[in-house]
Amino acid sequence: MAQQPSWDHGYHSSSSYTSAFYRELTPSWLDFAALVKGQLPPRESEGEPFVFLDLGCGTGFSLVVLASLYPEGRFYGVDFHPDHVAHGLDLARRAGLKNIEILEADFLELAAPDAVLPWAAGGCHYVVAHGIATWVTAPVQAALLAVAAASLRPAGLFYCSYNTYPGWLARSCFQQLLALDLPAAHPGGSGPRFHDTARLLHQLLGDEAQPSPFGASYPSLRRELQSVEFAPVDYLCGEYANEGWAPLYVTEMFARCKAHKLSFLGSATYSESFLELLPPPLRDLVLQEPRIEARELLIDLATNKAFRRDLLTKGQVRLTHQEWLERLRPVSFQLLQPQEAWLANPSDTLHFRACFGEIQGDPQAYGPVLSAISAAPSSLHSLLSACQQSPGELVVMLSLLLEAGGIGFDRGPAAAKAAAQVQRLNQLLLGRIQEGRSYTQLALPAVGSAIPFSVLEALIYRAQREQLEEPMLSSCVLLWLKETNVQLIGDGHQVILEAPAQLLKIQEIAAILKATKVPLLERLGGVPTPTPRLKASRSTRSRNRAPAPPES
Ligand SMILES: C[S@@+](CC[C@H](N)C(=O)[O-])C[C@H]1O[C@@H](n2cnc3c(N)ncnc32)[C@H](O)[C@@H]1O
Repeated sequence: MAQQPSWDHGYHSSSSYTSAFYRELTPSWLDFAALVKGQLPPRESEGEPFVFLDLGCGTGFSLVVLASLYPEGRFYGVDFHPDHVAHGLDLARRAGLKNIEILEADFLELAAPDAVLPWAAGGCHYVVAHGIATWVTAPVQAALLAVAAASLRPAGLFYCSYNTYPGWLARSCFQQLLALDLPAAHPGGSGPRFHDTARLLHQLLGDEAQPSPFGASYPSLRRELQSVEFAPVDYLCGEYANEGWAPLYVTEMFARCKAHKLSFLGSATYSESFLELLPPPLRDLVLQEPRIEARELLIDLATNKAFRRDLLTKGQVRLTHQEWLERLRPVSFQLLQPQEAWLANPSDTLHFRACFGEIQGDPQAYGPVLSAISAAPSSLHSLLSACQQSPGELVVMLSLLLEAGGIGFDRGPAAAKAAAQVQRLNQLLLGRIQEGRSYTQLALPAVGSAIPFSVLEALIYRAQREQLEEPMLSSCVLLWLKETNVQLIGDGHQVILEAPAQLLKIQEIAAILKATKVPLLERLGGVPTPTPRLKASRSTRSRNRAPAPPES
């Protein structure tokens, strides 16, 4: 019998992809990334209605969290994997969301000349495609870009993240070797193939002290292969087991985007938006280069870039300096980490990591900014008066603090409209995390984003809510972990096997959760603030007291 062409076009479809939320996809994050580059963002202010399209939305987790956080937005998700679509729709229904549609469709069908897009063509403020473009075959990638371009409204933003060279050069050897064997692996049996291939490649690298010519040329591969050992098989399949897997140099990707009128604006990784932060001599080389694609290539080569989060537009609208300032002034920020945590040891905490190296923040400059934001959510306008920085310098500082997770965008009154439905979603997610479902984040309405929340944290949270105290708390959590088949992992990635060490680990996480994460979740509206337990008043106490024995 002739073989039917597969609906997946060589994309790995025999298991589901992982569920995760990415802050770079939030409208607030994308708007700021555009503003930083002097481009008019799609929304004028927080709370304004918008249309958002997620191409290749996977299990829909990210989209559901976004739809819950931004009730004023209309969210569309597209994926051709029926399990992904079914999961996303079920989660959205359980969360009671009305502003989201997830459709089972193929980019190739949507890009066909006679196709009618299920959302207003040319009407999307934001189109995102996270982790897809370089995992699919060339025709599918072209269709993805065509659909993105056809969906965007003028000056709308397209976020496209992908694997790039030269950072993937070494690991492309792993993928080549794996591709020889993977088609033969029966569904569900791919796990050992990854490990066998990693082991084989390890041997080809030779001894660490006496590497083979291959090992000497790719010294980083030894470390990179270690990550294969710890990564979940679903992730490894999603990463490597696609026929179309082909990282792209940035210049090639820009050329392909240009064919669809999509032009590069900047990066959704904020630290990469400021050329002045680059170390010399790279900075001078880049600043001398007038062609934008050549600049980006120089940076990628010098930093061995492996992953890009590009922000593109269909039609640029450049702001004048005055318009830029006017747009920036009302943007407001909230503290995510306590100010003391930032300033207690500034040489550690004000140490920002970027692809080109580390940036040491000056406590004298950051102190007043952090103080102002920790006292109350602060707009850029008020921060300009509170500190001695120019708008340009302040924007860089805020961008680095945002990227380090120290602050978030303040959604202002728009957050209140989302709070009830976000709390309902978080309740649902917490219940599922506690049962071992691999969700890893909870939503924070006040900042329109999410924070990591592990199964261990979710179980400790349950115990704390049930008012359990030590030693009962850690013993119960350990029991629940066993029931859900979850292993405790130590700081060095090792599985913690001994009961006393397991209990210690639980107690350590419980203390952090109680002191920082739960207060953060409450302050930013992710969970309801518990009503303080009233001290029993005199009258209730006397009412509840056991009757006094009759006087003799
Ligand atoms: C690596 S996953 C990323 C999922 C999601 N964006 C995320 O970051 O969690 C890529 C997704 O693209 C979908 N996909 C691949 N080819 C597609 C096509 N031709 N049409 C529609 N969806 C496709 C896959 O089913 C998968 O869910």
